[in-house]
Amino acid sequence: MRILIVGSGGREHALAWAVRDADTLFIAPGNPGTAQYGVNIPVPVSELTGMVSFARNEQMDLVIIGPEVPLADGLADALDQGGIPCFGPSAAAAEIESSKAFAKGLMQRYGVPTAQWQHFHSNQLDEARNYAKMLGRCVIKASGLAAGKGAIMCENTEDSEYALHDLMIAGSLGEAGKEIVIEEWMEGEEASMFVLTDGDDYLLLDSAQDHKRVFDQDRGPNTGGMGAYAPAPVMTERLIESTCSRIIEPVLEAMAREGRLYKGCLYAGLMVTDEGPKVVEFNCRFGDPEAQVVLPLMGGDAIEILLCAAKGGIGNLRLEKQSLAAACVVLASGGYPGSYEKGHVVTGLKAAGEVPGALVFHAGTKSENGNILTAGGRVLGVTAVRETLSDAITHAYQAADLIDFKNKQLRRDIGCRALDRE
Ligand code: AMP
Ligand code: GLY
Repeated sequence: MRILIVGSGGREHALAWAVRDADTLFIAPGNPGTAQYGVNIPVPVSELTGMVSFARNEQMDLVIIGPEVPLADGLADALDQGGIPCFGPSAAAAEIESSKAFAKGLMQRYGVPTAQWQHFHSNQLDEARNYAKMLGRCVIKASGLAAGKGAIMCENTEDSEYALHDLMIAGSLGEAGKEIVIEEWMEGEEASMFVLTDGDDYLLLDSAQDHKRVFDQDRGPNTGGMGAYAPAPVMTERLIESTCSRIIEPVLEAMAREGRLYKGCLYAGLMVTDEGPKVVEFNCRFGDPEAQVVLPLMGGDAIEILLCAAKGGIGNLRLEKQSLAAACVVLASGGYPGSYEKGHVVTGLKAAGEVPGALVFHAGTKSENGNILTAGGRVLGVTAVRETLSDAITHAYQAADLIDFKNKQLRRDIGCRALDRE
């Protein structure tokens, strides 16, 4: 089996780890962590033509696309046209993430529970202000891809006036904010559900919860994610069943009915409200850092599972439920998600990897003269897989504390909400 993984973050390292038994594994462009299992290829994710040529010349049996941008840009379509099996949806299906206005419209057409909403174009400032005023507490979002920075939580009209000015007049998010969505502020606990689908059937993976704010107790600005754990105890059997029947199945059927065949991972970001789970957002790929906890718990043969999602037949697979839990602590550069320094030497990786159950995933690192240096905001994701969540958290921190670099920044409360619940 010859596999190419597209991307270079912690999620792609986790994917490379999951398919490490492939006969041949390439990662484009990859990172020093992915290089432990395969060969990194210097093709950037934005180079669609180069990526397809590489996959064709190297006779790939499967291409796994990690990030959302190449999916939204049509990499899966281009591979499909080249006859190369691909894990990841077409650009039309990826609109479920790349256009919040499309996602909300789809949910409305098919009765999928989500926050009350309306969308507005840049010439509809007055209409947008009136709707935000009517809602009071609300969330204002850029419709397009905004790398996790696209949602502005507004406590009152003053906040919403400021947010609308920022997005619609100052154009702070550029193209992504040309169209905006304003929605009701939902109350509840957040959780994420992941399914793998071939367009016909789906396989349910563990639920997870990530920690988006940079500081403990959910303070400070949003980040790509400072840690995650799985499964999320808030997602009881009953809530998982209702999420499947009221959210996942109608959405997959709707996508097929509208000619947007969905293959790959569908990520449903949920708010567990008093009225049951409602959709906050969909992503058209694995989450990062959620992949670093969900993939190690997946069980089964990851290559077979991902290939079935790409080529069909996922309905014939059964995953043995594992009674394990995973926690991932992200080690970030001081200053992230604002500006930060790069190039600091990372120590302790080997010792951390020897902690029982630990998996150290690289994200923003580079290798130079035999050293691993920091090279991004989120530097590493330190996962531990154990029998209980509390043990997974203890071991993830034990490993995380063995790693050091200048200005290392981490949250100390990953998984605490789940522990409180237990
Ligand atoms: P999104 O960009 O849609 O994923 O939103 C980012 C984060 O903003 C979510 O993970 C939630 O924490 C929060 N959020 C988004 N929409 C809502 C909503 N309607 N009600 C409450 N919180 C929200
Ligand atoms: N951790 C959130 C995301 O991947 O979108």
